[in-house]
Amino acid sequence: MEELHDSAHMAADIAVEETALDSSRTALLTVNQVERMFQVGGNTLHVLKGIQMEVHPNQLVMLKGRSGSGKTTLLNCLGGLDTPSKGEILFNGLTFSKMSDDERTQVRRKEMGFIFQAFALMPLLSAWENVELSLRMAGAPRSEWKGRVEQCLELVGLEKRMHHRPFELSGGEQQRVAIAKAIAHKPLLLLADEPTAELDTGMSAQIMSVFQTIIRTENVSICMTTHDPTILEVADHVYEMVDGKFM
Ligand SMILES: Nc1ncnc2c1ncn2[C@@H]1O[C@H](COP(=O)(O)OP(=O)(O)O)[C@@H](O)[C@H]1O
Ligand SMILES: [Mg+2]
Repeated sequence: MEELHDSAHMAADIAVEETALDSSRTALLTVNQVERMFQVGGNTLHVLKGIQMEVHPNQLVMLKGRSGSGKTTLLNCLGGLDTPSKGEILFNGLTFSKMSDDERTQVRRKEMGFIFQAFALMPLLSAWENVELSLRMAGAPRSEWKGRVEQCLELVGLEKRMHHRPFELSGGEQQRVAIAKAIAHKPLLLLADEPTAELDTGMSAQIMSVFQTIIRTENVSICMTTHDPTILEVADHVYEMVDGKFM
């Protein structure tokens, strides 16, 4: 009788554990108690203080918070450009934060795309050549370049500007080229650090509509930082960062 009881309990315990596991299995990105400290002139600067978050497939997740609250530091850890001092980051079933630098670089190149505030395009290359360069660097077969470049530039609404160079494009158009460039190799996760900060309201809205389109058509998740309240409205989930912690 005792034994029966015990095994029933055990089954219940296992069921609870599996539910928890399922949620971390379905999340594309899971951040567990991440901390990041920097040594500055003999002092320890505690920038991330126990971050807990998830990004699920096809989600648009936003990090909001004042300048200096730690958003870029967190995004750098999510993208493997930096590593946490404590805690762990799971990405696509891998313990991303514990991998070697080389392994992490491989995962980043294949499965992630980055968009920054300043558009990060090669100034002498056309929109087309900028996107093609990204496929070339990702090692995509040459036979696929043309079709994919056209597809990505159409997705961001620049089919009529394919052969323009960055200086012939508006800020909003340049950022759309940067998006085409970041998704060309079909990443699972797009990380964007204040992608609309240098754009006016109209252009920012266009960028957000492009983000919503590519989440649907490209099967990608996006995690971005912003402090623009009108932009936050289109998020599936908003994490508010205050002094290295979520509210
Ligand atoms: N490499 C570093 N060394 C020392 N301090 C840093 C470093 N990176 C960021 N910080 C500090 O961490 C804090 C948060 O910065 P950041 O993540 O850039 O915030 P946000 O992107 O929200 O403006 C700031 O006080 C910044 O000076
Ligand atoms: Mg920042």
